[in-house]
Amino acid sequence: QSGYDFVVVANRLAVDRVTTEDGGTGWRRSPGGLVTALAPIMAQSDGAWVGWHGAADEPLEAFDHQGMHLVPVPLSEQEVEDYYEGFSNATLWPLYHDVIARPAFHRHWFEAYRRVNRRFAEAAADVAAQGATVWVQDYQLQLVPAMLRELRPDVKIGFFNHIPFPPPGLFSQLPWRHSVLRGLLGADLIGFQRESDARNFQRVVRHRLGYYIKSDQVFVPLDAPGPGEDASVNGLHADPARGTAPRQLTAPTEGGFRVAEAKAFPISIDTDKIVELSERPDIIARSQQIRRELGEPDTIFLGVDRLDYTKGIRHRLKAYEELLRDGKLTVGEACLVQVASPSREGVASYQRLREDIEGAVGRINGEYDTLAHTAIRYLHHSYPVEEMVALYLAADVMLVTALRDGMNLVAKEYVAARKSGQGVLVLSEFTGAADQLRQALLINPHDVDELKAAIVKAATIDPEDARRRMRSLRRQVVSNNVQRWAEEFLDRLAAQP
Ligand code: G6P
Repeated sequence: QSGYDFVVVANRLAVDRVTTEDGGTGWRRSPGGLVTALAPIMAQSDGAWVGWHGAADEPLEAFDHQGMHLVPVPLSEQEVEDYYEGFSNATLWPLYHDVIARPAFHRHWFEAYRRVNRRFAEAAADVAAQGATVWVQDYQLQLVPAMLRELRPDVKIGFFNHIPFPPPGLFSQLPWRHSVLRGLLGADLIGFQRESDARNFQRVVRHRLGYYIKSDQVFVPLDAPGPGEDASVNGLHADPARGTAPRQLTAPTEGGFRVAEAKAFPISIDTDKIVELSERPDIIARSQQIRRELGEPDTIFLGVDRLDYTKGIRHRLKAYEELLRDGKLTVGEACLVQVASPSREGVASYQRLREDIEGAVGRINGEYDTLAHTAIRYLHHSYPVEEMVALYLAADVMLVTALRDGMNLVAKEYVAARKSGQGVLVLSEFTGAADQLRQALLINPHDVDELKAAIVKAATIDPEDARRRMRSLRRQVVSNNVQRWAEEFLDRLAAQP
């Protein structure tokens, strides 16, 4: 079978649509770390990227762009509502993030999810060469591995979950839990951000499906039902936890199994690029200009997040407001810059969050602003990476207070940009990044007093202590970039039998 040797399957295509000077449309490679890491591998190895191009009801032919073959997967307006905004972002996203928002369970959303996952699997099956490597990305596409295996048993299949994998007690709420587990187990290698995510997955597989697991190897019976089969798959008969199906908790002795490995591969950033930008004279000049524009405060605090309820923006604002109230911070001497980039605006919980955050910012600024200075600069925009790096350079303290986050790359980018060794990272222990960035000021964002203490400590820290911490953080980030992450995952996948 002719086709591509390396195929990436992700909800989003690797390019963004841009308007060209003559008013036409063109494409530009997406700036994210994943695309940056995989693009060179694609160019070397004849790669294709299967993904949604972001518009509803607009079929698009496959095309080539900068050494990548791009295969757009069309979605109807209804599918955007049911598969993307619905099941992906109003069921799975909150469920996988500790139910910070309440997940909604709708059968017609899952039907759309299954249908769209099949479409992605078919598109990948169509373009993959004989024996190709196919790498499926993230929670929007958890059924794709098993669907693809049915269509193309000859290909190697990897899956990486970019967000947390919840503990069994939460995952088990999902009415379609068996379908999702079986979908994932279609992969040869299933990657997670943290050890604890991989462990959560293994525990729920053992508990719900009764499969034997040893040293991250899951023994999947060859006659296990696929995620395409329905009803009874989720029914009483299939559930060993309810004592009605045979358990396979002892090591399988005779054949009849394949092995799927489930293991942590913490993702990182394109460190070289961030370091390079942080040394560019125009970007350094821009960072000085930002400080001047903010009125040269002693301490600039920075928050950079997608406007998402998992990011703990409200908790951050509350702590900051109390510090202003207590007189521990003074407007003019301190300034908080909060970039909140627009995200998933069709989803109700995101609309409510925006109203909440903007209400809080307005209230706090109304209370504490002076004619000359603002307490919180709130920016509901997305910025190009150059401007982000200028902000990282301008900020004395980076505040990452997520209530739950698969990794949090902003924390790593801030560290990469601080070559001078100055700057303090306040980091929630509920991020994947906290497993690696141990020298940050680690906090529990639910503990408002601890968060306030960390903010004060960050602003008043002994410079030598700050430098020592930042040097150690930078060693971590510089030696573990996203290129290395991709290499390690793909090497491991290639080594699967
Ligand atoms: C998270 C997810 C990604 C997703 C991104 C932006 O990082 O892990 O899969 O692409 O958020 O969200 P969006 O819904 O706009 O793609």
